[in-house]
Amino acid sequence: AIDIRKLRGTTGYITLDSGYMNTGSCNSQITFLDGEKGILNYRGYEIETLAENCSFVEVAYLLLIGELPTQKQLNDFRELLSRYALIHEDMIHFFDHFPPNAPPMAILSNMVNTLQNYYPEMTSESEEELPEIAARILSKIRTIAAFSYKKSVGHPLVYPRYDLSYCGNFLNMMFDKPVKPYVVHPEVVATLNKLLILHADHEQNCSTSTVRLVGSAGVNLYTSISAGISALWGPLHGGANQAVVEMLMAIHRDNNDFEKYIKKAKDPNDPFRLTGFGHRVYKTFDPRATIIKRACAKTLKALNVDDPLLDIAMELEDIARNDDYFISRNLYPNVDFYSGIIYRAMGIPTNMFTVMFAMGRLPGWISHWREMMLDTKNLRIGRPRQVYDGPKQRDFIPLHERV
Ligand code: ACO
Repeated sequence: AIDIRKLRGTTGYITLDSGYMNTGSCNSQITFLDGEKGILNYRGYEIETLAENCSFVEVAYLLLIGELPTQKQLNDFRELLSRYALIHEDMIHFFDHFPPNAPPMAILSNMVNTLQNYYPEMTSESEEELPEIAARILSKIRTIAAFSYKKSVGHPLVYPRYDLSYCGNFLNMMFDKPVKPYVVHPEVVATLNKLLILHADHEQNCSTSTVRLVGSAGVNLYTSISAGISALWGPLHGGANQAVVEMLMAIHRDNNDFEKYIKKAKDPNDPFRLTGFGHRVYKTFDPRATIIKRACAKTLKALNVDDPLLDIAMELEDIARNDDYFISRNLYPNVDFYSGIIYRAMGIPTNMFTVMFAMGRLPGWISHWREMMLDTKNLRIGRPRQVYDGPKQRDFIPLHERV
């Protein structure tokens, strides 16, 4: 390998790779991704196996610690998740000061940044403290997400319970009402576990790279994650799950005029894209999309939900997969194409879809932040260069002489 430090400043050459299409930023042992073959492994385990057999909490432990937990380790981790589920009571007042229509992603990134004021001791990369630190973040962010929803609809807050699982607790905090107690549906819990597992890590995507870049300046874990949440919000990244459902609703309102949307997506002069299609790394099926598509049909059936958006999504996929434009560019459905339809069936409001993604991605963000911090040999501030193509040196003209 070339020693980049020796090249720096001596040759005058700079590697220019807009969008980092093929630039590695680090070594990592967390997630393996083969975009040509559609393979995704966490810590060496295939995503299909993990999604089929594990809970989200088990997978979070795997990503964070590097090994699947034993039953005792899992019980201990669950205990920590229950113990740290509450947020400081003073933080609850913050929710009163966001406008009622504030986007939940904005609230989430604000509140996560604020966590470091209340829990400054919670940010360390040490081995012994990791399960505790991770459990606190995972659990508190879940509570913040559910509280922000309750506040937005003006309902009383529902506090986390000791007797419910990680996902069961979230659903209960979201949907339990004094007048209509929520009954946790096992199929919904199973599907939510699966969705969160599928989102848990995806190597150096935009939000994870943001967490690493911000963290590389020495910023605490919360602020780094808060920056990651902001990056995830973008419609080209995690915000796509909301944008897909909005697009499918627009097609529905347009009497399923698929032709119109396909034409717009193919028009080089129209910024419109078929949201939920395409991926920087996958040039074949996104393995997560395949699993989510199956789960989507199963969950809707179990919940007795007949959503016309599922039929529209399947037809749109069919049309795109037989169209030369999409075939020649290797554009396949990505993780966001079917996930929103499931969230809708669960009763999650559209503007919370990306919050769900953020909850899933947390173990990945924490694991990457920590991996970077522990790699002291390579740890240095992230600071890309540029190729300057502005004006050459110019003579200064005093203000009174400028015309
Ligand atoms: N609809 C129509 N055309 C598309 C789409 C799409 N969804 N995606 C890519 N293309 C076209 C581009 O216009 C370009 O065409 P050209 O070669 O004629 O100029 C070609 O395919 C290559 O696209 P790029 O933009 O160069 O691909 P890039 O790797 O930079 O972008 C991205 C990847 C952002 C995911 C893109 O495919 C996209 O915008 N998809 C829609 C948004 C989306 O679903 N985002 C979620 C991604 S998954 C995630 O982040 C969780």
